[in-house]
Amino acid sequence: MSRVISISNHKGGVGKTTSVVNIGAGLAYKGRKVLLIDLDPQANLTISMGVSESEHSLYDAFTNEQNLQPVNVKKNLDIIPSSSELAAAEIELNTETNQESNIAKLIEPLRNNYDYIIIDCPPSLGLLTLNAFAASDEVIIPIQPHFLAVKGLAKIIEVVNNIKLNINKKVEISAVFAVMYDKRKILHKDVLDTIIMYFDDRVLNTKVRENIALAEAPATGQDIFEYAPESNGAFDYRRIVNEIIEMEDKFGNKSE
Ligand SMILES: Nc1ncnc2c1ncn2[C@@H]1O[C@H](COP(=O)(O)OP(=O)(O)OP(=O)(O)O)[C@@H](O)[C@H]1O
Ligand SMILES: [Mg+2]
Repeated sequence: MSRVISISNHKGGVGKTTSVVNIGAGLAYKGRKVLLIDLDPQANLTISMGVSESEHSLYDAFTNEQNLQPVNVKKNLDIIPSSSELAAAEIELNTETNQESNIAKLIEPLRNNYDYIIIDCPPSLGLLTLNAFAASDEVIIPIQPHFLAVKGLAKIIEVVNNIKLNINKKVEISAVFAVMYDKRKILHKDVLDTIIMYFDDRVLNTKVRENIALAEAPATGQDIFEYAPESNGAFDYRRIVNEIIEMEDKFGNKSE
């Protein structure tokens, strides 16, 4: 019943990594077996989880054609760390045939070991992200409700559709949700209305509010549920996790 999910938005700093950390942790606390994959050479996810960059990185598996070796972080939660060398892999991939399918091949043998495999994508629609989409059943997009946020959506929809048409017919945008949302701001409400026009019932009911504890937690190597379990951030991501679990009926059995 494994679900492979890319968390992606080519705009930088919109809360992708924060979402991967806390959705991953929330699912693990709910008893799901979770693998997080850090596909960003910035390695923010790896660092946030308190894992050393060099241990069994994705780049090693790429270049040495080894199997991926997940590192256990806590109960039910493993990670494939990134390293800054991963940027080189993007260039090396360029010269290969089937260059979008490499990560899918690496992930395939692990699918039976996990309920969820969640990929933290870099802030671009380059080859690493194309690889993530080619390996995924679902793409989930966190959106910061700024004026220009909607503009970028057409591009990511186009890229997902291209992958769906040519490489991986299973992939689809299964959910989008607002992050750093402030309900007092009319602009945020307006942008969210536009997002609902694009994505309809795929927009999650939960909006993640701006919450300083979410920004503080990574420095301590803790997820939001450990760092500040009573915070708005913990409350919001708990609800996001529940909404993702509610989608299991629809998406959970695809790989079987
Ligand atoms: N809901 C939130 N409230 C307050 N701060 C947040 C929230 N979500 C994320 N942040 C902070 O915003 C910054 C960017 O978040 P994050 O690193 O998760 O974004 P990203 O999309 O992964 O960035 P990049 O595109 O560089 O990978 C971080 O400092 C993070 O701690
Ligand atoms: Mg990130």
